[in-house]
Amino acid sequence: MKRIVSFLLAAAMFFSLAACSQADGSEASAPSDSGQYETETTVEDFGDEGPAEGSDAEGEGTGNSNVLVAYFSWVDNAVLAEDVDAVSSPSVIPPGNVQQLAGWVQEETGGDIFSIRVADPYPSGWDECLERANEERGEDARPELAENAVNLGQYDTVFLGYPNWWYGAPMALLSFLEQNDLSGKQVYLFCSHGTGGLAGSVEQIAEAAPGAVISDNIFDCYEEEAASSEEAIKAWADGLGYGSQTEGEEEDTDMSGKRISVQFGDAEVIYALNNGAAAASLYEMLPLTVDAEDFSTNEKIFYPPKELACVETPAASSSTGAGTLAYYEPWGNVVMFYDGFNENPSLYELGYAVSGAEQISRMSGTITVEAIE
Ligand SMILES: Cc1cc2nc3c(=O)[nH]c(=O)nc-3n(C[C@H](O)[C@H](O)[C@H](O)COP(=O)(O)O)c2cc1C
Repeated sequence: MKRIVSFLLAAAMFFSLAACSQADGSEASAPSDSGQYETETTVEDFGDEGPAEGSDAEGEGTGNSNVLVAYFSWVDNAVLAEDVDAVSSPSVIPPGNVQQLAGWVQEETGGDIFSIRVADPYPSGWDECLERANEERGEDARPELAENAVNLGQYDTVFLGYPNWWYGAPMALLSFLEQNDLSGKQVYLFCSHGTGGLAGSVEQIAEAAPGAVISDNIFDCYEEEAASSEEAIKAWADGLGYGSQTEGEEEDTDMSGKRISVQFGDAEVIYALNNGAAAASLYEMLPLTVDAEDFSTNEKIFYPPKELACVETPAASSSTGAGTLAYYEPWGNVVMFYDGFNENPSLYELGYAVSGAEQISRMSGTITVEAIE
């Protein structure tokens, strides 16, 4: 439904977004950088009465105990009016856009799902909700949450979903991030929005969760496309390595027994991976073609395209010495030791060479890193 909403809005919000996209892809909207609230502006197509009936995002995840899908959606944060005519402006109607997206991510990943809810629900009327959200934005408020998340310690990966509210993340999402420690966790964002795109939300989230490893592979979706985005968002989660196609999830997150091959010229080094999250995230990125570089007198290193999640990953022990495969978190590089090394709390163990360790010292140039099936 086209709706004319009287709204204080930045002119830059009028970017047209016609499709779901990933923020590292070309379809994503440029965030508004004007930062200017202008005088009363009329916005079309901003919001909807809600997408068609669809999924129930309140499922309990069972398949992948490392993954949490946490999301904020207006529909879970409003007292739904029984008589929609009773509110003066169009009203929220289930299911919510982000609620639906979150349900599909949960289905695809098999993770647990958590709906971020405020203690004092928002009005169910559109204009009234905009007004309160705008006040909260102006006050940089942190609305009280109805409950805290389940123990986040058990999750390595958090999919975080939210709508754009007033050029950024809803303030309740910031409450959630500031009350729950996401340090070291791999975080994937998904967002549904009107014509404003992601606006300043990613920067706000990064600021509220300083230690989190936030991927720049973001799924974002225009509000009117949300209800038909099941396939797209499931493909996105799958592409990140959390999909049902890669199921036998227990096995996938259990790296023990997994081996990788590092090849250069006619030489090959085979590593057995350990059971840490960092080894699992490296494995998910394979195959890779990268450059091997010399470092110091005992290491060959390479840079994987993304940071590895280091939660529940053992530190590299000097007792394993040459042949150790490790990850140096501050620089984001993988290390292949061919001589002894000193321990360092930021140096995480990924595995150990089970064949070809004597070749590591002569490694140079382009190498390929592959999973051994
Ligand atoms: C209070 C409020 C503020 C909003 N502000 C914006 C905005 O600044 N930019 C934008 O593109 N969309 C904005 N929207 C639209 C929502 O981002 C969009 O409709 C989204 O799909 C809603 O998801 P939900 O149904 O899960 O809450 C706003 C919606 C509400 C309710």
